[in-house]
Amino acid sequence: LNNGLASTPPMGYNTWNAFHDEINETLIYHAADELVETGLAAAGYDYLVIDADGWANFQRNGSGPIEANSTRFPNGIKAVADYVHAKGLKLGIYSDSGTLTCAKYTASLGYEAIDAAQFAAWEVDLLKYDNCFSRTVRSRYEAMSDALNATGRPILFSMCEWGVSSPWEYGNQVGNTWRTTQDISLAISATWDSVMNNLEGTKGLARFGGPGGWNDADMLEVGWPGGALLSDVEQRAHFALWAILKSPLIFGNDLRNMTRQTLNILKSPEVVAINQDPLGIPGDLVWKQGPQEVYAAPLVDGSRAVVLFNRHQHLDPNFPSQNMTVFWRSIGIPPNVTVWAFLFSSSRP
Ligand code: DGJ
Repeated sequence: LNNGLASTPPMGYNTWNAFHDEINETLIYHAADELVETGLAAAGYDYLVIDADGWANFQRNGSGPIEANSTRFPNGIKAVADYVHAKGLKLGIYSDSGTLTCAKYTASLGYEAIDAAQFAAWEVDLLKYDNCFSRTVRSRYEAMSDALNATGRPILFSMCEWGVSSPWEYGNQVGNTWRTTQDISLAISATWDSVMNNLEGTKGLARFGGPGGWNDADMLEVGWPGGALLSDVEQRAHFALWAILKSPLIFGNDLRNMTRQTLNILKSPEVVAINQDPLGIPGDLVWKQGPQEVYAAPLVDGSRAVVLFNRHQHLDPNFPSQNMTVFWRSIGIPPNVTVWAFLFSSSRP
């Protein structure tokens, strides 16, 4: 979407996977503090997204705008935005294109202009727009896109169009990101299969992404709970793949229980740099042989980023890695081009 935003994929933190509807202003204040104190904000994670239907009331007041739940957000959303902005961060909020949100709270169908104006008045910076109780028609997303544009405030439009056929075909005209798949598993039940499903759903779509609009393979499963559900090497592979696909890097673990291992993955400066490369050309699968896959993306300085990915899951623990041979020629690299290769193996510190 040509609204001046998302020239590179958005990065940040989203509350949904860890907290669901159990959200309140104290939790958001803590999340803002943690993003800064952990150095994640400085590493680029600057959006803090309230993603839970329950931030709002079940019903709107007459035909007025969507209202915050006064028990969970007693000081209102503007106060939260002020706090988040004072930390140098940006605030994201959630609504739905249908008659109700997924958990049956107020949604924005028919109230797009009124709600968008309210979000702008609260100084919100991102809207995640869901697809429950909706007929999944493009025009519903266009209505909110136009309404956000009409506010005059730059608000990144994160389209959560799961269950829609091929939203990538028009995504870049309507929003800044569009979901390519169903939900990744909730963090508390993170599974490698779910990560792989979302990889499969995003493969082959690189040509639809670029500055202003990105394929969204859904949130990162890195770091929950303490890496017990996904192994360390699975988390690093997941992160490298999302980075090279130029998917938004939005993580969703419990910020209060971050391990050093999680921080090291999320902050990896070279991997984040691939995702945020200003050329903005998403990488894609360029070679595959059995469980071995190679992903590559061109970078702004003329070099290429490459992920060598071994999908084999049942390795002999005595031989945790496989040899992979990739010829530059086979991934389309002419002689004399610099290659950055990130080799992930379970023995890497
Ligand atoms: C479905 C979305 O895909 C999730 O990311 C999350 O926003 C929930 N809805 C919230 O109800």
